[in-house]
Amino acid sequence: MLSKKIWICVAVLLITSAVGTAAAIEPTSNAITAKAGSIGLKITPEEVISKAIDKVGNVESKLTPEEMIAKDRKKEQKLTPKELLGELIFFDANLSEPKGQACEDCHGKDVGWTGPNEASNVLRGGVYHGANVSRFGNRKPPTIAYSTFAPNFRLDNATTGAFVGGEFWDGRATGEIRGTAAADQATGPFLNPLEMNNPNGDVVVDKVCTSSYVDLFKQVWGSNACDDKKKAFDDIAFSIVAFEASKEVSPFTSKYDAYLDGKVKLTAKEMKGLELFKGKAICDQCHIADLGHDGKHPLFTNFIYGDPGTPRNPQNPFYNETEFNPLGAAYIDPGLAGHIQNDPNLLKYQRINYGKFKVPTLRNVDKRPNETFVKRYMHNGFFSSLQDVVHFYNTRDVLPVCGFSGSEIGKNCWPLPEVALNANPKVGHLGLTDEEEEDIVAFLNTLSDGFVPHK
Ligand code: HEC
Ligand code: HEC
Repeated sequence: MLSKKIWICVAVLLITSAVGTAAAIEPTSNAITAKAGSIGLKITPEEVISKAIDKVGNVESKLTPEEMIAKDRKKEQKLTPKELLGELIFFDANLSEPKGQACEDCHGKDVGWTGPNEASNVLRGGVYHGANVSRFGNRKPPTIAYSTFAPNFRLDNATTGAFVGGEFWDGRATGEIRGTAAADQATGPFLNPLEMNNPNGDVVVDKVCTSSYVDLFKQVWGSNACDDKKKAFDDIAFSIVAFEASKEVSPFTSKYDAYLDGKVKLTAKEMKGLELFKGKAICDQCHIADLGHDGKHPLFTNFIYGDPGTPRNPQNPFYNETEFNPLGAAYIDPGLAGHIQNDPNLLKYQRINYGKFKVPTLRNVDKRPNETFVKRYMHNGFFSSLQDVVHFYNTRDVLPVCGFSGSEIGKNCWPLPEVALNANPKVGHLGLTDEEEEDIVAFLNTLSDGFVPHK
């Protein structure tokens, strides 16, 4: 665990960078309007700072491994030793270089296992800095919940060049190395210089093998688990995957799950939203909502790749990342194309997959610590509310292109897609009324885990 001193230091950095970015966004006004696709989102720099302080305050109350184990023992539904080990690794802020960043810092439970820092969500499009706090990634953290269900990455149709599966927004954790996409993914963040920044796997293994939970590591993986470092790094990955797949992270306990089991009724509004989701709004063509043939509850993704026409997010701090982004503001996220173009055999499919991203699950899209908490949506966090997302799917091709005098994003215009080449023509003009848009949002609200039916 980190000392108080270091956290204060992180707090100061966070605040300084928050203020710095704020000034850069809106130099003339003291109210920051998160311009990127946000309708009516206004937050003052003071509010952002107080939120940043809140966050650091929360961090201090982080549990020690011993406390986490004790808490698990008290639970009705205990995790298996392997899942618990994965949880301890996931929450361990000692596993970054320098120390201080855990997986949970970008994937927090209260936020549906996606980005939990509101200052980053408001000011930086939900894109997070790494353990080296001056470095930023290029994408928004997707949820880890239900991610282990992703099939391994593969070419699905050699004629159309359609791919399916894999982890990360561009599927580059394929499953080729450790057998599953999830296991290939799990060690990526440890070594990513923009995230946890360790020089190699051995360093991470050494940290786990000198942690206070090393006995559990040996109990799960054998008394000599620390001897072979390559195997130990794999075992760290498998432990994390067990946690991600556990009832703690992927529990299928939303109101919609209870509805599918016949345990609760949806309200009339939610029901209308569901009908639209599967009907007029065609959401379920990609975000599957029906029970599977095997009776399994839906994951709200078919794991294919698409581009709803998501605009570029000017707030993305990656544009100012000089060390890792030589293109600066001219950077365009190639999505799946960037992943497959490294394989000469797949290069012929690069063009058709330019700017496409993996369809994310919609489970927990609205899960937030409170109603005013801002989350970000899409690979670059362009949208800051579900209302905006649905309005975009509905009117992308109907409203004029922004940039004219009096234009306001999402109100009377939309920016062009970041990559127009492959923007899906089936969405963008759904013909939904305002009320129907609201119904869909009401339905999306039923997908948050932890629903407790009223007795
Ligand atoms: C600095 C923030 C940050 C940290 C720390 C971090 N992640 Fe992530 N995570 C991200 C981002 C951003 C992505 C998307 C990256 C991409 O697609 O290129 C991501 C993607 C993922 C995914 C893919 C989900 C999917 O559906 O494809 C999983 C799983 C995941 N992270 C788990 C972890 C684990 C496990 C750790 C700790 C070992 C971790 N993350 C640490 C930011 C972070
Ligand atoms: C043709 C496939 C397709 C259809 C139809 C579709 N989506 Fe999506 N959806 C995607 C893809 C692909 C992304 C990721 C795009 C990106 O990151 O730029 C996405 C992203 C999202 C997100 C962001 C989730 C997150 O975690 O960031 C939401 C919310 C969403 N879609 C809701 C909907 C709703 C509501 C509908 C119906 C009105 C819909 N989608 C229709 C493919 C689709």
